[in-house]
Amino acid sequence: MSQFLVLLVAVLAVDAAMASASRLQYGYYSQTCPQAEKIVRDVIGRNRMREPRSAASVMRLQFHDCFVNGCDASLLLDDTPNMLGEKLALSNINSLRSYQVIDEAKEELELACPSVVSCADILIMAARDAVELSGGPCWEVKLGRLDSLTASQEDSNRIMPSPRANATYLIDLFKSFNLSITDLVALSGSHSIGQARCFSIVFRLYNQSGTGRPDPNMDPTYRKKLDHLCPLSGDGNVTGDLDATPRVFDNQYFKDLVNLRGFLNSDQTLFSGNALTGELVRRFSRDQQAFFSAFVEGMVKLGDLQSGQPGEVRKNCRVVNKPAESGSYQVWVLNDKRMK
Ligand code: HEM
Repeated sequence: MSQFLVLLVAVLAVDAAMASASRLQYGYYSQTCPQAEKIVRDVIGRNRMREPRSAASVMRLQFHDCFVNGCDASLLLDDTPNMLGEKLALSNINSLRSYQVIDEAKEELELACPSVVSCADILIMAARDAVELSGGPCWEVKLGRLDSLTASQEDSNRIMPSPRANATYLIDLFKSFNLSITDLVALSGSHSIGQARCFSIVFRLYNQSGTGRPDPNMDPTYRKKLDHLCPLSGDGNVTGDLDATPRVFDNQYFKDLVNLRGFLNSDQTLFSGNALTGELVRRFSRDQQAFFSAFVEGMVKLGDLQSGQPGEVRKNCRVVNKPAESGSYQVWVLNDKRMK
């Protein structure tokens, strides 16, 4: 009897996983909003012209949304008196930016096709466009996600990794989302574009692992540069480039890691802290095409993470629809994102 129950549970789990996978489709809006992908791409391109870093900032949103209860735009909800949202979570406060770019895309989509395109899908399209417009690979995205009805600051605090994280921790974290070591290293290659704050590296410069010394895995000339940018007790909000070509999506990030010029501890550890990740870093530093292919695979897997919770298509990405609009609720049960 108990064997039968185990089998039944297993069959139901597989069913749920398949239901989720079939929910996301290529060309999902081809009938209901054929101009959706072009609208998003134009907004990302326009903002990138205005402020080049916005491409990196927008792309990062996919990671911070999808790791916390699936890709459901929970990240975009503002706090309410009853709900502490994710924007003020430890990894996001004073750090995530360019939310207004997503708002701009949503406003244009609401004019063209009201209540059709979810904010969760906008994040996925925007990340893809940001990479391509920065010189990286292009790929087709599956769409059809719903927006969450709530958000969880607590879950974000619990899940999102710190810049102090080491390779072993990151491997285990990604594994819990069914993401491989290759996915981890390739997705970290997103740090090929963008910047980070001194706040994220001062421990590394002056007191790595409580030693009172800098991280030994750092090129001395590069360390001098970082010491100058981020003096002890300086302004933690000053920013530095994550690699030597921060506006171009390329494999320079991996070349920098091999040369001990990684900005974040969580980056350098991939080369210096683990043989398996180190080998992949070396490979991607030599072969940009291999990096691009693995990166696309990782982004698609990241975009497939689902919460299993009911959802809707929000009219404004910052707030859930009012009850009067709840006719637009579409409630599905999707599989748990951490499929074992
Ligand atoms: C592997 C674990 C990861 C860790 C520990 C990590 C950590 C960080 C940190 C600490 C920053 C700088 C924050 C600041 O100083 O304000 C940052 C920036 C960034 N991260 Fe990650 N990250 C990781 C993975 C990812 C992934 C998977 C993506 C995207 C798919 C991503 C995309 C970005 C981008 C594009 C930036 C620059 C954003 C900007 O310039 O505004 N990161 N990350």
